Amino acid sequence: MSTVQELDAEYLAHTYGRFPVTFVRGEGSALYDEEGKRYIDMGSGIAVNVLGYADAEWIAAVSQQAGKLAHASNLYYTQPQTELAQLLCQRSGMKRVFFGNSGAEANECAIKAARKYAADKVGENVRPVIVTMENSFHGRTLATLAATGQDMFHHDFGPFPTGFRYVRPNDVRDLKAALEQDDVCAVLLETVQGEGGVVCLDESYLKAVRKLTEERDVLMMVDEVQTGNGRTGKLFSYQHFDLLPDVVTTAKGLAGGLPMGACMLGERVKDVFGPGSHGSTFGGNPICAAGALCVQKRLTDELFSEVERKSRYILQELSPLPNVKSVTGRGLMLGVESNQNAGQLVKRLLNRGVVALTAKTKLRLLPPLTIPDSDLETAVQIIKEEINQ
Ligand SMILES: Cc1ncc(COP(=O)(O)O)c(C=O)c1O
Repeated sequence: MSTVQELDAEYLAHTYGRFPVTFVRGEGSALYDEEGKRYIDMGSGIAVNVLGYADAEWIAAVSQQAGKLAHASNLYYTQPQTELAQLLCQRSGMKRVFFGNSGAEANECAIKAARKYAADKVGENVRPVIVTMENSFHGRTLATLAATGQDMFHHDFGPFPTGFRYVRPNDVRDLKAALEQDDVCAVLLETVQGEGGVVCLDESYLKAVRKLTEERDVLMMVDEVQTGNGRTGKLFSYQHFDLLPDVVTTAKGLAGGLPMGACMLGERVKDVFGPGSHGSTFGGNPICAAGALCVQKRLTDELFSEVERKSRYILQELSPLPNVKSVTGRGLMLGVESNQNAGQLVKRLLNRGVVALTAKTKLRLLPPLTIPDSDLETAVQIIKEEINQ
């Protein structure tokens, strides 16, 4: 065990089952440990490092901003935050943005926005319920845990906030039943359930959600914390489906490695918040915003077609393997169900210099969007060998 690992065991809260590796630096799609061993990154720090590591433009943007102005309270205007909000609105179809520091915070903001929207219209506590999907994941704060439609998260930390109702994903009838009682202000969903095992919601279902929510003046809120920022081959995954949600949340890849979350408010909800109704000390911090602006400028249609091409390559290579049962997901967010134990498989891959993730029983692949073909091909070859065992 290295010193770092011994000190970690003594001084860190034991919230993570860590792998016995200490990373010290990264470059492109490669990570290096204390001994200088090179690993190909197929996880992006769980969908964060969209441009890989040590990207020259991103370093310049962030360090220049750090030298100019690292932080000013949200009581004042700052240029990078404003510019980023404008760009996100122009590219998403949303109208205003609230910045926080994480995915959970972005979803907390969405939950508050939905409750406030209904409160303004029909009175407080008349329509407080937010419908979410079984098998979803929305974060680790108390409200976002309550929003998460997996029982295993609903223990030990109660009482949890109330006002959440779970429905079966891809089941329109179940959704209709949940909306029948006139107490619902919003439906919150991921188009691809990431932590839930890289499970795609059907296009027809997403369109039905949009139609049913519109008819009932209920908000459609899409959690793009994991699927956003080019991950699925569009800037935001709902853009595959010719529909516009009322609220979109994102984080992870947004600032390319710095902590930042955004809750983007569409036309119907753009004015729900007034001064004092929500806030964050660090949200929209100039350094994070400068990093995010750099990421946004790099997330071009050209990059998205590369994401699609690399996705097809992984699918073509892994789907036909006799030990592979299915490959699910979209773009560079893929889940591989095989007859290998996913946890064991990830450990073996790490030993062989490939960093990958699990999602429930699946191997989960979330490489940097900029991964070069040479690294991708090597990683896929190693994955094939380990799955073929
Ligand atoms: C879909 C989704 N929403 C929310 C979150 C929570 O994000 P954070 O860990 O940044 O709070 C995650 C994290 O995995 C996620 O995948």
